[in-house]
Amino acid sequence: QAQGEVEEAVLTKVSGFAMKSFAERVIEWQQAFGRHDLPWQRTRDPYRIWLSEIMLQQTQVSAVIPYYGRFLARFPDLDSLAAAPEDDVLALWSGLGYYARARNLHSAARAIVERHAGVFPSAFDEIVALPGIGRSTAGAIAVFAFGARHPILDGNVKRVFARVFGIAGFPGEKKIETALWMRAETLLPSQNVDAYTQGLMDLGAAVCIRARPRCEECPLHDECVARREKRVAVLPAPRPKKALPEKSTVMLILQRNREVLLEKRPAPGIWGGLWSFPEIAALGDAACALRTRFGAEVMSEGALPDMRHGFTHYALTITPALLRVTQLERRAHSPGHVWLTPADAINAAVPAPVRAILRQLNGPRVIRRPA
Ligand code: ADE
Repeated sequence: QAQGEVEEAVLTKVSGFAMKSFAERVIEWQQAFGRHDLPWQRTRDPYRIWLSEIMLQQTQVSAVIPYYGRFLARFPDLDSLAAAPEDDVLALWSGLGYYARARNLHSAARAIVERHAGVFPSAFDEIVALPGIGRSTAGAIAVFAFGARHPILDGNVKRVFARVFGIAGFPGEKKIETALWMRAETLLPSQNVDAYTQGLMDLGAAVCIRARPRCEECPLHDECVARREKRVAVLPAPRPKKALPEKSTVMLILQRNREVLLEKRPAPGIWGGLWSFPEIAALGDAACALRTRFGAEVMSEGALPDMRHGFTHYALTITPALLRVTQLERRAHSPGHVWLTPADAINAAVPAPVRAILRQLNGPRVIRRPA
């Protein structure tokens, strides 16, 4: 078959993937080495697949699995989710981060009940029109739940494409992203799109990882431009560095009768809809702020150690100030405020740093006395 080999060599040189296509390699690899028993696989239930894809946005599989199980135990189907108060949804999301995902999930469930009679839509255009679902997530849902043929392009897949095809530039940049979507469309096979899609995700998560990728295990290894040109370490290009702004806040931990005060944060904005401690900008203002906001008189009991929390757009230093309430007007019982024991508050819809503070209140304490 010398003639065939010559042709194969020529074709391979031209296209990179002539004889065994990119998709074929990904599919064969997925079938042999990919993941087959994640909790959201082996189902075609669009509700379960949708939930998994939302939780998996910017979050690793290992972090998602326990949240996914708890969420489904409480909200086994779309109707139960749509009927729930937003607070209950946020409570189950608490600690997973990016809470807009939970608010969008909830409002999408309600939209499906209203617009689609409670039946998850199967048409791509209707899926992508739902809150919190972008082009890649809609593609994944259409593929996994409805066996449709649509490309995906999440962060991991961008990394695979950028390396295999040697695409320089930051993949979040519009021009680069458009080029990557073109690749995603043209590489899509006509058959086995679900194995192909899962294979791309699995490769990105386990083989073509950001640091020290396992190129020896990669089915695209021979054709990979980054590998051939020794540019694996520099592709894809990182987000252009803008120094993250540093912000700081003081969280006021008002304690009274073994309970602490939490207030509901306004819906647009960081931690919107979650319960958190009242905040002030600087420690010196605490007593005055509490008098005017709540009519509360307090005694300082020091502070817990500072905590740092990273957001996408800034870094936050939190100083948790401990205050004992000696007198209180009714305003601290107004709507949007609750008094809870730390043990109960831990299970409410609170951001991760607030939960960490509540854990310290519940257990042994390291108290920093004011200077
Ligand atoms: N990341 C995003 N979607 C995923 C999926 N379905 N399986 C594994 N990782 C994923």
